[in-house]
Amino acid sequence: LGRGPLSGRHILVTSGPTHEPIDPVRYIANRSSGAQGTAIGAALVRLGAKVTFITGPATAAPPEGVSVVRVETAREMLKAVEAALPADAAVFAAAVADWRVSSSSGSKIKKDGSGSPPSLSLDENPDILATVSRMTGGRPRLVIGFAAETDDVVANATAKRARKGCDWIVANDVSPATGIMGGTENAVTVIDDSGAEAWPRATKEQVARRLANRIADALE
Ligand code: C5P
Repeated sequence: LGRGPLSGRHILVTSGPTHEPIDPVRYIANRSSGAQGTAIGAALVRLGAKVTFITGPATAAPPEGVSVVRVETAREMLKAVEAALPADAAVFAAAVADWRVSSSSGSKIKKDGSGSPPSLSLDENPDILATVSRMTGGRPRLVIGFAAETDDVVANATAKRARKGCDWIVANDVSPATGIMGGTENAVTVIDDSGAEAWPRATKEQVARRLANRIADALE
């Protein structure tokens, strides 16, 4: 610690899925393992950064050397991100649930015997990446989002970058055939204001190291 191109920098990383409760025993979630976010946290620490690692309930253990903040829901993640600012850079690798159950039940929902299942009404969660990207005071100098897409990856991710207002989007193809979501490898395209840069398929650790180096160059 304290050495390397990112020493003296504070970088925030979100990682993992969020869980949105239906009732005390059930939740809505997604297949994110937190592996890419964890690898990014570790790579940033290795370059000397002070890392606040805000993670949903991931299967991957958080990396060593970070300050870990554990959250369950998207709304808790947003609060934790706001509490962790200011930061020089923020990397939003979490797969945040887009929706939450409008009014989750305080007690376990029972089958009532009528044969008609309950229906769930959903509300949209806050967009953490867009919220931070659009901050007028105290915005991190470098805000990086991810785009997990299954079709037209670069076109969709380029549009997403504009919509969210972030500086870079790291786009990846999460079609089941790629084995990327929940797998050990990733193939990403990094999109910034000068265009799209396709990186060869590599382990998530290799992708993380290359991204951490690119962040160090940008903050120099
Ligand atoms: O819109 P979409 O979910 O595809 O955007 C993905 C990017 O936005 C990721 O960087 C993710 O961490 C971030 N995000 C967020 N808050 C949300 C939804 C997505 O920070 N509610």
